[in-house]
Amino acid sequence: MQKLIVGNWKMNGTSADIPAIGKIVQAAGGHKSVDSGLCLPATLIERAASEFPGFAIGGQDCHAAEKGAHTGCVSAGMLKDAGAGMVIVGHSERRSDQGESDADVQGKARAARGAGLDVIICVGETEAERDAGKAEDIVLGQIDASVPDDLGTGGLAIAYEPVWAIGTGRVPSGGDVAAMHDAIRKRLIERLGQGGTQVRILYGGSMNGGNAAELLAIPNVDGGLIGGASLSADKFEPILAAAARP
Ligand code: PGA
Repeated sequence: MQKLIVGNWKMNGTSADIPAIGKIVQAAGGHKSVDSGLCLPATLIERAASEFPGFAIGGQDCHAAEKGAHTGCVSAGMLKDAGAGMVIVGHSERRSDQGESDADVQGKARAARGAGLDVIICVGETEAERDAGKAEDIVLGQIDASVPDDLGTGGLAIAYEPVWAIGTGRVPSGGDVAAMHDAIRKRLIERLGQGGTQVRILYGGSMNGGNAAELLAIPNVDGGLIGGASLSADKFEPILAAAARP
């Protein structure tokens, strides 16, 4: 499976950062064997999509509804209209900051696919849940409740992001990543049939140029969702290079 490396810019970036995006687009062009893209703040999507045609731009969230009285929200169709080709849903920062439930995430995922966007559904346990030995139960529970049964497997990716690894510089052991990705793969096959073998399972949480090669070599790690290290080409390019290695 071709690796997928997606940058998540979170609440970072204004028009002054268009040249930085340009450098990342250029770096991505040097690694054609890797699928890559950037999920930008909604305000930058249209600008980036028109400046860099052919490079995958995405959003970081969408509403479950097509349109209506939802002040401040952005629908999947609006992201698509702005030039996005994908969207992240259920990121742990939204699950905690905005109180999004698995049911909310499922609705967003369905809306995204309905609008023709690829969707990355995020799951991951907190540190307390891992310490209590519940990590796998929590993550598989999130998969069961956040991934719609009727979604189909085309255009679907899962990002396993341990909450305690996001932005902290800490990463789980290779063995723990392997065990979780294996469990997610098995659950996807149970839920979605053979199509579940084709869903890319990304690892996210403090992936960087120094640890990407090791993480991406783990079976069932089909790519990465990158926060801090996606903000500049200098940091993002080594991850793309690691993903390009056979
Ligand atoms: P990080 O963020 O790479 O900065 O840990 C990853 C994410 O939140 O998607």
